[in-house]
Amino acid sequence: MLTKEENEYITRVGPGTPMGNLFRHYWMPALLSHELPEPDGAPVQVRILGEDLVAYRDSGGQVGLLGEFCPHRKASLFLGRNEEHGLRCVYHGWKFDTTGACTDMPNEPAESNFRDKIRHTAYPCRDAGGVVWAWMGPRDRMPELPQFEWTLVPDTHRTVSKLYQANNWLQGVEGGIDSSHVSFLHSSRQSGAQGPTRTFGVGGLFSSTDTAPKFSLLETDYGFLIGASRTTNVQDLSYWRLTPFMLPFYTVIPGRISSGEQVYSGHAWVPIDDYSTWMVTYSWHPAEPIAQQRVHPAHYVPRDPATFKPLANRSNWYGLDRQMQKTENYTGIANGSDQDRAVQETMGPIVDRTTEHLGTSDTAVIAARRTLIRQAHDLESGREPAPAWNPAAFRLRSLSCELPAAYTIEQANTAFQARQPSPIA
Ligand SMILES: [Fe+2]
Repeated sequence: MLTKEENEYITRVGPGTPMGNLFRHYWMPALLSHELPEPDGAPVQVRILGEDLVAYRDSGGQVGLLGEFCPHRKASLFLGRNEEHGLRCVYHGWKFDTTGACTDMPNEPAESNFRDKIRHTAYPCRDAGGVVWAWMGPRDRMPELPQFEWTLVPDTHRTVSKLYQANNWLQGVEGGIDSSHVSFLHSSRQSGAQGPTRTFGVGGLFSSTDTAPKFSLLETDYGFLIGASRTTNVQDLSYWRLTPFMLPFYTVIPGRISSGEQVYSGHAWVPIDDYSTWMVTYSWHPAEPIAQQRVHPAHYVPRDPATFKPLANRSNWYGLDRQMQKTENYTGIANGSDQDRAVQETMGPIVDRTTEHLGTSDTAVIAARRTLIRQAHDLESGREPAPAWNPAAFRLRSLSCELPAAYTIEQANTAFQARQPSPIA
């Protein structure tokens, strides 16, 4: 559990908060590239880390991310005209380029230098991996983009989608690194069975027979590696899931497509504000197209195309079907991603961590909190987060495999490292 103060400290990400400052030292996945499909197209409202912004793709294809409200009289620039290398406020015609410079001020005398004094909030952006990344931190301390493998493969080898979630980002992260829940929340149920029987989707072969995996962690230069090992029906052999937690909020989980090949998926939980989150889901195959494959249930959650809000939500109890719960699966909720969101949202917008009871299966959850709090403390005393300055550290897959039961996390990490992509030459 956390104290009330710690829970406030770790969850709040608005401007000026310690955790908000930490997040502003990492690149943020701000929106999907296809939300801005063409130069001079319609702008998009973006709310991220509690800031109201507007994104647009200028005449040259560069994405701008500006404060939503015009610095003149605060009209919304979402109403604006995206034309000739700038976004123009429709109230008085002031125009801003992607750097936040005011490039035209047609309602002031031509000889006035007033426009040179205006510098609007603007965050540098990059397109990579079907995502627009924003740098919301100090301009003179901007590292290279993290080298996630899914951002480096051809577009055909990757699928990226996002979903709105009505809860604080940390509840998403905690669900994502909690390997223990897979044997329950995501398990199917055969008729007459008393407990969880076998998992589907992201689960492994042996999740059923051993529902209390042994957790071990290894601190790394990207965050930490989570090992969850389960006993198998073969003596001296364990089934391991090795999944990295990359700071500040990324996961990678193993999966398989029908051919039995290993593909990878993962999530980023990007705070919209303290009470709502974008769950960005990425799936990829390192070498082959996967666009038509059902690689992760999150991509197939029915949603409003304009708002990315899932149709199954708290208002309809996620489509909970009590008959399905009796006969088909553990939850009575059909989609695996809806299952996750159902438990994460119904804890409340910011879960009260002062009254929870953590067990040994919560090892990774505890470690993530410690790591995040430590990084925010470090930043408060002037030490920048090291992973942000190590883009190659994010080039990671995950692994599910059988290993000798006696292996330690260090030995398992050797197997894990052997399956990672080679570094960029
Ligand atoms: Fe889950």
